[in-house]
Parts: sequence; C-alpha cells; structure tokens
Amino acid sequence: MHTQIDTLFANLWQDYISITPSAQKVHALLEEFDGQREVINDHVAFRTFNIEKINMNKLAAQFIALGYEEKGQYDFEQKKLKAKHFEHPDSTKPKVFISELLVEQFSPEVQAIITKMVANIDDSAAAMDDFLYSGTHWQISSVDYETLLEASEYAAWMAAWGFRANHFTVSVNHLQHFQILADVNAQLKLAGFVLNTSGGEIKGGPEVHLAQSSTMADQIEVQFSDTKKQVPSCFYEFAQRYTLPDGSLYRGFVAASADKIFESTNVKS
Ligand code: NI
Repeated sequence: MHTQIDTLFANLWQDYISITPSAQKVHALLEEFDGQREVINDHVAFRTFNIEKINMNKLAAQFIALGYEEKGQYDFEQKKLKAKHFEHPDSTKPKVFISELLVEQFSPEVQAIITKMVANIDDSAAAMDDFLYSGTHWQISSVDYETLLEASEYAAWMAAWGFRANHFTVSVNHLQHFQILADVNAQLKLAGFVLNTSGGEIKGGPEVHLAQSSTMADQIEVQFSDTKKQVPSCFYEFAQRYTLPDGSLYRGFVAASADKIFESTNVKS
C-alpha cells in the first residue's frame, strides 16, 4: 500500500515538473543545501469542479482507497470554493488538500463553458489509476478561457491544465540547512525566483501554527483549440508548522492563508 502511495506521488511529481520547471530547480537547490537529503512534502494540492462526475469526493476517493482520512473542511466564499484536507496514518506521507469550484454560483455563460468541458470526460475517468494526473479531457478556445478568467482565475486554471497536482509543498520543518521559512524565502529570491506577495510574502505564522509561502506559477504555452497562449501553470509552496500546546505539530490548514496561496496561479495581479 505504501509503495502504491509513493508511486502515485512520484507520477504526480513527474507530471508537475513537466509544466513547472522552476519547481524542479528549487527542489534541486534545497537538496544541494541539505547534502542531497530527500526533500519532504508537507502536502500536495488538487483542484476540481463540484460537478458529480469529477467532484472533490471523486478525487478524495483515490486517496481514501490508499488509507487517507478526511481531517478538515474549509470555505472560501469570495473565491466560490470549498476544500477538504486528508491525512495518512503514516505521518511521513504528504497531506492532501483538495478544493472544488462551486459552479452553480457563476453566470449561465460560465456554467455552460464548464459543463461542456466536464461533459467531455468519460464517466469512468475519475476511477482510473492515472486520473489525478490525467490533465485536460477537453478542448477549449482561448475566447472561452478569457471568459472564465474574467469570472474566476481558478476556473481558467482548470480549463488550461485539468487534473494534476496544482502544487507540491516543501516541509520546511524537515529541511536541515534552513530552519525558518523566512530564510528559505531569502535564498529563493537571491536565486531569482519570484514569490507570491499577496497577503505578504509569508502567510500565517506562529499565531496560527502554520507559516506558508509560495513561488508564482511558471508561464507555460498551452495549445487552445484556436491558438497557443502562455498561461500560469503550477507553483511550489513552502510550509513551516509550529507545535501546539500539547507538543504535537499543527497538522491543519489556515483558510485565510490558503485563500492567498490560491492566487499564485493568477494571470492578473
Ligand atoms: Ni498548499
């Protein structure tokens, strides 16, 4: 079972770095500072729509089948999103954060574009072993992409990239050379990487038991049905967790911080 989990995350990682070259560079940099010790993932995040065929629970089922358990729920009213996080009893396995867009809260025009995309997905797709890194199952025009973008950066990202890891997250607690998130950020900026500054470079902190930062997503060319266009792909996140009064590390997520982390894939600032 653990081998299956490791294989899944290895496949997700390969797919992720294929469209996020900066993440591979950051990963190599951190490994170099740590004498080639393995970089440990805090969590991996996924996005979807709340349409039955491929909703959050369908993605979650893949992880539940591997022994993961649901641990937390989050609401992002302004972005029209819901999310849940999942943990494995083996705490060395990455946590999983899955969000879904509340499609019914958008205009008929936006709903129609999303419904059409999802209609193209095979009914059995969500149960397939490779579904979590299967990408898009549709073709969309750049015009429809722009329509989605006006309504929701998240919807536009899904239209361009589909099902895959939206980001991996380095567990700063497990790094050897760097002890605190601010030092990781400083080194990344020195190396020329661009960080998400929405809500400040560091979201959260000791007061909420979790500090997070992230790169801005890479810009990658996507073939739309009518033309090619450079759009944001994925980003890399960094998380430092703090101990609770009982001495254990906080394992949850902080909605106010996650809200800003979502903006790492924004086209518009
Ligand atoms: Ni995250």
